[in-house]
Amino acid sequence: MSPAKINIAIDGYSSCGKSTLAKQLAKKLHYIYVDTGAMYRSVALFALDNGFFESDFDKEKLINSLNQITIRFERNENGLQTILNGENVEESIRSMRVSERVSEVAAIPEVRKKLVSQQQEMGKEKGVVMDGRDIGTVVFPDAELKIFMTASPSVRAQRRYDELKANGKEASMEEVKKNLEHRDYIDTHRSSDPLKQADDALVLDNTDLTPDEQLQKALDWSRERMGE
Ligand code: DC
Repeated sequence: MSPAKINIAIDGYSSCGKSTLAKQLAKKLHYIYVDTGAMYRSVALFALDNGFFESDFDKEKLINSLNQITIRFERNENGLQTILNGENVEESIRSMRVSERVSEVAAIPEVRKKLVSQQQEMGKEKGVVMDGRDIGTVVFPDAELKIFMTASPSVRAQRRYDELKANGKEASMEEVKKNLEHRDYIDTHRSSDPLKQADDALVLDNTDLTPDEQLQKALDWSRERMGE
């Protein structure tokens, strides 16, 4: 008999390596990977491109436009791609321009309501690895496995900086550190579904772990929860 399918929720601060782990885990288990940060980033890109940030952030305009936003994922030779209203935005949602604004967008309850319900739909059949900030607390409070990831602030800043550089994006280390601190603050202090560790989450601190070591740990936990 094949093992029972489960949902795996991975939460944690920005640049903790959540998506790296979630992608590898999904591949090993033949599960679907869902990057919920990409969905919030897509809404932020939509708001930027439509001029909602031109003077003060016009939240009402964004809320009233939410029904014009469709986000889906598509796989191509470069991996999972984020599609916003039919356009591949995988590159543009990773820019500093979007990173600087996304926390404000993710703090809006109407935005969260829309995206959370889409995410819950994606996990209905189980067999999903989803990473974000509120997956174990709000999206899948009954997930069979919840992982809360942490890493030291300096390791996180270095990883983010290396990732931007590798993708040919301009940013100084100082900017990266400030952006991470700013996002951590908003993500943990917003009134709507703030980032917090679920009571039943297993903590994975990867400051001193190699990607292989952290994957092995997560795989062991997953197999145990699948009843293998
Ligand atoms: O994981 P990331 O850096 O791509 O996330 C981008 C932003 O979206 C981050 O500031 C937190 C927010 N976010 C959220 O509020 N809830 C989620 N489930 C995922 C991301």
